Amino acid sequence: MRRAEHAITVHAPAKVNLSLEVLGRRADGYHELRTVFQAAGLFDALTVEDAPGLSLTVEGDAPGSGDNLVLRAARALIERTPEGGERGAHIHLRKNIPAGAGLGGGSSDAAATLLVLNRMWDCALNREQLAEPARELGADVPFFLYGGAALGAGRGDVLTPLRTPSQLWLVLAVPPFSLPGKTARMFGRLTRDEYTDGSRTLALASDLERGVPITTEQLYNGLFPAALREFDDLAGYVAGLRRVSTLDWMLSGAGPACFTLAGAREEAEEIAGLARRLPGTCHVVPALEPLSSYDLWPPPPPSPA
Ligand code: C5P
Repeated sequence: MRRAEHAITVHAPAKVNLSLEVLGRRADGYHELRTVFQAAGLFDALTVEDAPGLSLTVEGDAPGSGDNLVLRAARALIERTPEGGERGAHIHLRKNIPAGAGLGGGSSDAAATLLVLNRMWDCALNREQLAEPARELGADVPFFLYGGAALGAGRGDVLTPLRTPSQLWLVLAVPPFSLPGKTARMFGRLTRDEYTDGSRTLALASDLERGVPITTEQLYNGLFPAALREFDDLAGYVAGLRRVSTLDWMLSGAGPACFTLAGAREEAEEIAGLARRLPGTCHVVPALEPLSSYDLWPPPPPSPA
């Protein structure tokens, strides 16, 4: 039996993109972005314990194979540490964040893996050093090393922290459909007239930084038209959301999850209550402060007697 007293459990949050603009295609094939990420209080849980070799078990909706970003993150850390070859861990991933929805669950699991194994294996890499393997795992992964709100430039991996809005609640509406390889597909189907100059995103970032309350009219996603073309059922789903609440609903990342904002939990719950009549799931979650200001780590486990 595994000795539970040696296990560490950490939580990996979801995100939304409050704004996401695609500026154009880069020479490396990726797209130049300006985006405002906001960490959201819906969590996957990773329980990690020392073990010979690397292994992963998954509970819930996620790829459990070698393709899972959690194992790739663990291997990336091993490659970067001198006694790497001797490291091992068993990781149990409990999924709550819907996979393939645009809420960043897989990227967040990867970042949480880097953070927790860095601590468990005493690798002593700082956040900037962890950001290197993180950006190789995916453009969204570095954000999850910091959380809170951040402006993302480059591929979304060049980050500037922003002030987290106070009293911001998110209603996350997740329709019951997905599309394999959808992120690459969405970017691949963008037309030139869907590129914008990033000014909306910078204006939103500036409002956040100055503590100006943001409104749902400021939400933007340059991938939304491509998502409406690619996901057959998305247009009908969004029309359903608009009947539920006349507030603007925005696509998160490459979708298909959509979200809106509320200034109070009760207001968010009221919207979600109606949105739950649609197919899929709906979550009411707070916008999260950066990692440094909330306690991601549980208290250390008691030492064995
Ligand atoms: O980095 P990640 O693996 O999440 O990206 C998946 C795919 O999305 C990339 O292979 C690329 O085709 C596309 N992408 C892009 N520009 C970005 C981020 C992702 O074209 N800034």
